[in-house]
Amino acid sequence: MISATSSGLQGDVSVPGDKSISHRALMLASQVLGSTRITGLLEGEDVLRTAEALRRLGVDVQRVGDGAWEVHGVGAGGLHESEAVLDMGNAGTGARLMMGLVTPYPFTTFFTGDPSLRSRPMGRVMTPLSQMGARFVARAHDRLPLALTGTESPLPITYRLPVASAQVKSAVLLAALNTRGKTTVIEREPTRDHTENMLEYFGIGVERRREEDGALAVTLSGHQNPARAERSLTVPGDPSSAAFPLVAALIVPHSRLVLRNVCVNPLRTGLFDTLKEMGARLTAVNERRIGGEKVADIEVESSTLRAVRVPAARAPSMIDEYPILAVAAAFAEGETAMEGIGELRVKESDRLSGIIQGLRACGVEARAEGDTLFVTGQKQPRGGALISTRLDHRIAMSFLVMGMASQQHVTVDDAAPIATSFPGFPALMNALGARLSERTPTRTLPLVVAIDGPAASGKGTLARRLAAYFGIAYLDTGSLYRAVGLRLAYADADPRDIGAAIRAAQSITYEDLANPRLRQEHVGKAASIVSAQPEVRAVLLDFQRRFAASGQGAILDGRDIGTVVLPEARFKFFITATLEARARRRHRELQGQGVEVIYDSVLKDLRERDERDAAREIAPMKPAEDAFIIDTSKHDADSVFDQVRRLIEERLEQPEQRIPA
Ligand code: S3P
Repeated sequence: MISATSSGLQGDVSVPGDKSISHRALMLASQVLGSTRITGLLEGEDVLRTAEALRRLGVDVQRVGDGAWEVHGVGAGGLHESEAVLDMGNAGTGARLMMGLVTPYPFTTFFTGDPSLRSRPMGRVMTPLSQMGARFVARAHDRLPLALTGTESPLPITYRLPVASAQVKSAVLLAALNTRGKTTVIEREPTRDHTENMLEYFGIGVERRREEDGALAVTLSGHQNPARAERSLTVPGDPSSAAFPLVAALIVPHSRLVLRNVCVNPLRTGLFDTLKEMGARLTAVNERRIGGEKVADIEVESSTLRAVRVPAARAPSMIDEYPILAVAAAFAEGETAMEGIGELRVKESDRLSGIIQGLRACGVEARAEGDTLFVTGQKQPRGGALISTRLDHRIAMSFLVMGMASQQHVTVDDAAPIATSFPGFPALMNALGARLSERTPTRTLPLVVAIDGPAASGKGTLARRLAAYFGIAYLDTGSLYRAVGLRLAYADADPRDIGAAIRAAQSITYEDLANPRLRQEHVGKAASIVSAQPEVRAVLLDFQRRFAASGQGAILDGRDIGTVVLPEARFKFFITATLEARARRRHRELQGQGVEVIYDSVLKDLRERDERDAAREIAPMKPAEDAFIIDTSKHDADSVFDQVRRLIEERLEQPEQRIPA
């Protein structure tokens, strides 16, 4: 997906339901007896996986309308063994919380997920759940797929979180629901408390207490009878999703947005606080409570941002927001430091490295020192990069936001993961004034590149590298004439015999082009004779055009590709260099191959060859009118490749070059 520079974002929107709260709503509703109606549920892929997993465990979960769901709770103790593996997709929260939920059951549950989830550590939940009585068999000790065998008689525990993680805390609390006795989780840094809030909302008592050392202890007694029969729940908008349009509005000039109904639980609003410190014009108005959570509407306008230091203590309250904060920091004056964010390495992707690589590709200085990320801002970063999403929705959205305000558009290679948390993100952003457009391979023209140039200009090396880089087919058209020469040699025919040469040209196959004998000198001589025959060229012209039209994209190099063979090619390059530079290269190349030859004779050969090429009546060598002419005399192969690759990529990203849908 491409994100092009926007001239201003305006509007009034509601972001989708909170992902954390949505997972919990389905799971907790399954644990209270009777039916619960949930509205505003996030219908993202992650949450749908949780719904499906609950169904497999015997819970009746139904979608009854847009964001409206009904869960027929089975009560604590009412789940059944699943016959199938629970595939949690991309959802870390879904997987870890579900492990807590099935711990107090004497059956085995199998968990798996997508490649991103399978790479994430599960040891953090396996440790406390094992203490409660669960047994695990996991791939590579603590990775999915894993099997969890629960227990009929789980033990209540007191567990001090070694990492600040709401997922771990919640997994233990969910297991505690169906565990006799008091289970306590102690956290040094407070993490999001949606599980606690929702338990209370459903009438299940939770005790929260400050320890002497300032840590927070959360205690839950299992097997409670819910005191109050609250049977409907509204999920507020997700502040982690709101973060994307919000930062977009800050960095795209002439923007003003109102984001409605956003959860402003103080354990989730670290980003808002940080942005305000950076000078963001951002206000929360109309604060109220919905379903046990604080919500507000957020007004935001384009702002001049300045760098700040974000303390480690704030990390839990904005843990998912660092990718988009890093983008905001790229537009802020000065160097922003984000401390204590090592946890970013084990999110949906290694976000620390994803942010750094992505920002650098966009021309922004970014680096990590230990667990601190530094980003140096600019007034308007260059952008103009292709970002790898790595199955990470937040990396994808962050860099699409980056493209909205950069000088050049930004492309993400895979926008599909966005649907895990923010389905409809592109449409919503475009309705506000963003310019996101999809680039699906089926709708783009196949990439066809024509490269011409004199001998020893480096065009073959360049063509081969471009073909590998863009994943398209490569044809060295010089080898076609050599193949004709070789066939004639095998048939003992004279290359000047037109009839024989035409027949040989007609029978050329791809295997011929891989024959190592093509490089032999006598074959080269025959090739130069047949290549001067218009009839032979006509036959091979057809071969070359069919090759280019294969639909997969192709790169052809030769002497008349841009002018005669593919005059319609979208990309044409004429690679040249001074006679001396080419002679030096060829001389070095021959020496490298162990061929004893003096420089002067190489020079003389090339000069004669150039003269023949230029004087030739058919297909004389000259650049096409619309070719990029690249003189490589003073450049090495790497820099020539970089220059051409960039030229191609920049043009490819121009939307008008695409076939309309
Ligand atoms: C979540 C907690 C956080 C967060 C995740 C959702 C939750 O993970 O990154 O997106 O719903 O409890 P950790 O608990 O691993 O920090």
